[in-house]
Amino acid sequence: MAEAALEVTGMTAGYVPDLPILRDVSMRAETGRVTVIIGPNGAGKSTLIKAVAGLVPVSEGTVHLGARAITGIRPDQLSAHGMAYVPQSDNIFRSLTIAENLDLALARAAGGAQMRERLLQQFPVLADKLKEKAGALSGGQRQFLAVAMALAAEPSVILMDEPSAGLAPKAAQEVLEEARALTERGVTIVLVEQNVNQALRLADHCYILAEGRNQIDGAAADLLGDPVVAEIYLGGKRLRAGG
Ligand SMILES: Nc1ncnc2c1ncn2[C@@H]1O[C@H](COP(=O)(O)OP(=O)(O)O)[C@@H](O)[C@H]1O
Ligand SMILES: [Mg+2]
Repeated sequence: MAEAALEVTGMTAGYVPDLPILRDVSMRAETGRVTVIIGPNGAGKSTLIKAVAGLVPVSEGTVHLGARAITGIRPDQLSAHGMAYVPQSDNIFRSLTIAENLDLALARAAGGAQMRERLLQQFPVLADKLKEKAGALSGGQRQFLAVAMALAAEPSVILMDEPSAGLAPKAAQEVLEEARALTERGVTIVLVEQNVNQALRLADHCYILAEGRNQIDGAAADLLGDPVVAEIYLGGKRLRAGG
């Protein structure tokens, strides 16, 4: 088994004390792989990502980034630890231009002109529209901008919450392929997705959450077409519920 870049063990977490949303959730994301988290609405997928990023209090369990324990990290320390979080919405500044968005991210990351060049090469669609307001970009282009901003800090692990949500199928595919492409440089991707089949085709490993608990996990290729996935979505199957 490859080394885990990120490992969550036995996590209980929630927004309010004594009201856990996640119960005993575990997950590992191997280095340079795409790990996808799927599950019905309200399963706790976003909460899991936010708890890893320090945005939701963790009452039990641990989060490790490589060998380092980062449980309950301060969100402003994320990039210092080599991690980036791309929220599902409000992940760019719509009233600023693309150049201004990138410059903000670069300033925070002390990335400099070289990094700016690299990002613009990687996302030519952004290079063509530097002076346009980010709010004028298409949905897919906005996600590219959000990913570019995350990359400014050269993270080794990127947490992405439903980057393809609300996108047309082609744009969704492009965004997911970009996530895949990032792993070719050794970046580890943890992705929440609602496009289940697309995500399973693209990911290496998959975790299914429902009702704040782990259900099943396995090689994404094995889960593709496995009827148990549909059953969990339809609410007919809970492998570990109530335990
Ligand atoms: N800010 C919040 N405060 C309190 N409860 C929340 C908050 N955000 C989400 N929840 C609750 O946490 C549960 C899981 O939500 P979420 O993690 O967003 O699910 P998913 O991303 O899988 O759709 C839901 O019951 C939701 O109502
Ligand atoms: Mg969510």
